[in-house]
Amino acid sequence: MYDTRTAGASFRRRLLAWYGRSARDLPWRRTRDPYAVLVSEVMLQQTQVVRVLGAYSAFLRRFPTLRALGGASLGDVLREWSGLGYNRRARDLHRAARACPTGLPRTAAELDALPGVGAYTAGAVACFAHDDPVAFADTNIRRVLGRAFLGRTAAEREALELDAALMPRRDAARWHHALMDLGATICVARSPRCADCPIRASCRFRGGEDRPRRRQAPFVESDRYLRGAIVRALTLGPRTVAFLGTSLGDARVPRLVAALRTEGLIEQSEGRLRLPG
Ligand code: ADE
Repeated sequence: MYDTRTAGASFRRRLLAWYGRSARDLPWRRTRDPYAVLVSEVMLQQTQVVRVLGAYSAFLRRFPTLRALGGASLGDVLREWSGLGYNRRARDLHRAARACPTGLPRTAAELDALPGVGAYTAGAVACFAHDDPVAFADTNIRRVLGRAFLGRTAAEREALELDAALMPRRDAARWHHALMDLGATICVARSPRCADCPIRASCRFRGGEDRPRRRQAPFVESDRYLRGAIVRALTLGPRTVAFLGTSLGDARVPRLVAALRTEGLIEQSEGRLRLPG
């Protein structure tokens, strides 16, 4: 039978040795401030690393502490966020800051209860800020652990079990960074660079076929793109729905405006839409 224990020890050793040579130097890895780690993880949830790099530093300059963020208006937070998209993330981060006037909770379980913070982000903050050995898995970790041990991308549950079984008790942060980096640079979704992979000798995937990807609709036609465009337009000042409908040239504007209002991302007063005060 396949011996996960032995394979695990060798996987760990090779992965961490590779990371020692190839680690990406990312600014959120140089801090242990739980607030800064949370900001980075929320930004990284759906935005590429290269785009987060600039936004992360600018956001922390503007809102250097959880208290500063909680004290700001949602409109100001959205203005700072608007290039990143998925504005609900900014709203949730702002809500979380207001829910925690004395600081972020310490454990993954308590962090998980905050607005917009799911199991992944809670685990990542507990691990990266406090070095807690908690299992968590984003898509990179699911792909790397899944391919190495199952021969395909793992489901969330499978990845959590593998992660819990394989993670070193000390320096769990380094372990998770290494998995993420392997997934981002070598064990990539399409055309993985198996020839350069430090764990190819024991990998169960090695150039195999992964799940086919679903074709996505072009981004500029998506609701998400249009929602972002509406919020961006309102960073310039209040506008009527009719104005937005005409300037964005899309019949979906009224429906998306209604959704954004329900979510508290925009407000309407005196016939005009605006960012929350
Ligand atoms: N380092 C810490 N968290 C990360 C993430 N979500 N993506 C890339 N690098 C990271």
